[in-house]
Amino acid sequence: MKNIQLIILFMCIAWTSNAQNAYNIIPLPKSLMPSEGTFVIKKGISVYITSYEFSPSANMLVSQIKHVSGFVPTIKIAKSASSGIIFSKNDALGDEAYRLQVSSKRVEIQAKTGKGAFYGLQTLLQLMPAPIYGNELSAVELTIPNCLIEDAPRFSYRGLMLDVGRYYFSVDAIKRYIDLMAIYKLNTFHWHLTEDQGWRIEIKKYPLLTSISSVRKESMLGHRRDQKYDGKPHGGFYTQEQIKEVVAYATSKYINVIPEIEMPGHSTAVLAAYPQLGSNGDKILQVKTKWGISEDVLFPHEETFTFLEDVLTEVMALFPGQYIHIGGDECPKTQWKESRFCQDLIKKLGLKDEHELQSYFIRRIDKFVSSKGKKILGWDEILEGGISPNAMVMSWRGTKGGVEAAKQNHDVVMSPNSYFYIDYYQADPKTEPLAFGGFLPLSKCYSFEPDLPELTAEEAKHVVGIQANLWTEYVSNLPYAEYMTYPRALALSEVSWSPKESKNYEDFKKRLKGHMPSMDTLKINYSKAFLSQP
Ligand code: ACM
Repeated sequence: MKNIQLIILFMCIAWTSNAQNAYNIIPLPKSLMPSEGTFVIKKGISVYITSYEFSPSANMLVSQIKHVSGFVPTIKIAKSASSGIIFSKNDALGDEAYRLQVSSKRVEIQAKTGKGAFYGLQTLLQLMPAPIYGNELSAVELTIPNCLIEDAPRFSYRGLMLDVGRYYFSVDAIKRYIDLMAIYKLNTFHWHLTEDQGWRIEIKKYPLLTSISSVRKESMLGHRRDQKYDGKPHGGFYTQEQIKEVVAYATSKYINVIPEIEMPGHSTAVLAAYPQLGSNGDKILQVKTKWGISEDVLFPHEETFTFLEDVLTEVMALFPGQYIHIGGDECPKTQWKESRFCQDLIKKLGLKDEHELQSYFIRRIDKFVSSKGKKILGWDEILEGGISPNAMVMSWRGTKGGVEAAKQNHDVVMSPNSYFYIDYYQADPKTEPLAFGGFLPLSKCYSFEPDLPELTAEEAKHVVGIQANLWTEYVSNLPYAEYMTYPRALALSEVSWSPKESKNYEDFKKRLKGHMPSMDTLKINYSKAFLSQP
């Protein structure tokens, strides 16, 4: 960015945050030029669209205005409009970009796509008084401060992962999680559907996955180290119809859903139903009740590959996105070391050891998924034995794996545990609900800089974005999940969307404080720990 542009950007930000409270936009737009005056939404107002792809956003705006004001703006198709709110086409913009101009006479959102218009709408809603997010009539006048905003994201992948394996979350809970993501321009929901402690997706060819693998006998009470159990069965799964419903819902909010099917580790729940896919057919296993890493893993039997290919075939038919997450993390090799079958296979394939056997496992799955026109995404362990060029890597053990992957020309999602594992404490454990451990205050999430010095400009292009992960060993319900997710997901949103040059924690915190009434109207159960932290 040229110096003069930088100076203007900083002037705009300074003006925005000093002069007015009304521009509390998260994530911060690329450029924001405030001006005098306001636009007021009054009875009789019309919402115009120049193209049908803007109708979902127009409908959403109308429905929110209706809830708060009691009147229903009319939606009209038009080439242009000199008053009211207009969504108009601008093919010069990027797919996720928008241009929002608010003047006292009219509001215009320009976009090339429905998605860009949707993001313009999210910004417009954040400019309105907090009641706009509610379902109740309000006497508050719906005013919008005049401004010109030009906006586009820094990264194309802006994700949140929810682990529904440790605890099942209802379809309504998932939809609510998606609703909130959309408000902050996050565009990828990574649905961690299988774990040692529970399998959550209906697979028609393997009914035991839902009758056996989806239920565990009991859950841990308190922290893992306490070794206590609640004695109550826990279970649940999504039917294929429900999965389609969630995917369609997310799509309506411009969110791609990436399913994760774990392999070869984190698969005890599968083995409880189909023990022949593991060490041997004799070992009786139960869906795991204890948190932590399990030594019971899938074995590279031909039958296991048949099973996984069948499962993935059903999964790929349900999720229209290009990526399927195949896990690949934390697979202990103890059983493979002790197994005659695995040792013979290692010899037969000319492999060095069990680690190369894991990479043989992943590469076979990679080849299968690629042959169906999709791509695999896996935790950074998948890098260890060579994968196909179009496989994407999710770097979780810090950024090292991501850096290595980018250097090998793989696309990378940065999700380092030290910055984006939102199952970690965000304040003093003494004052917090039980969490995994660690310490990850809001400021630390915000401080993550994806532009890593180890990468050349060319290599850095492989970093497609960032993601925060909510593992749920200690998170058994939605309010708790929201508490762990917010406001840290807002730091994620800003780091992944806003320009690097405008990054400023103090300014973010100020806008976040100003945005709290909106979060209250949305009834987000967010942590306020950041208010008393540096
Ligand atoms: C992970 O946290 N095991 C990806």
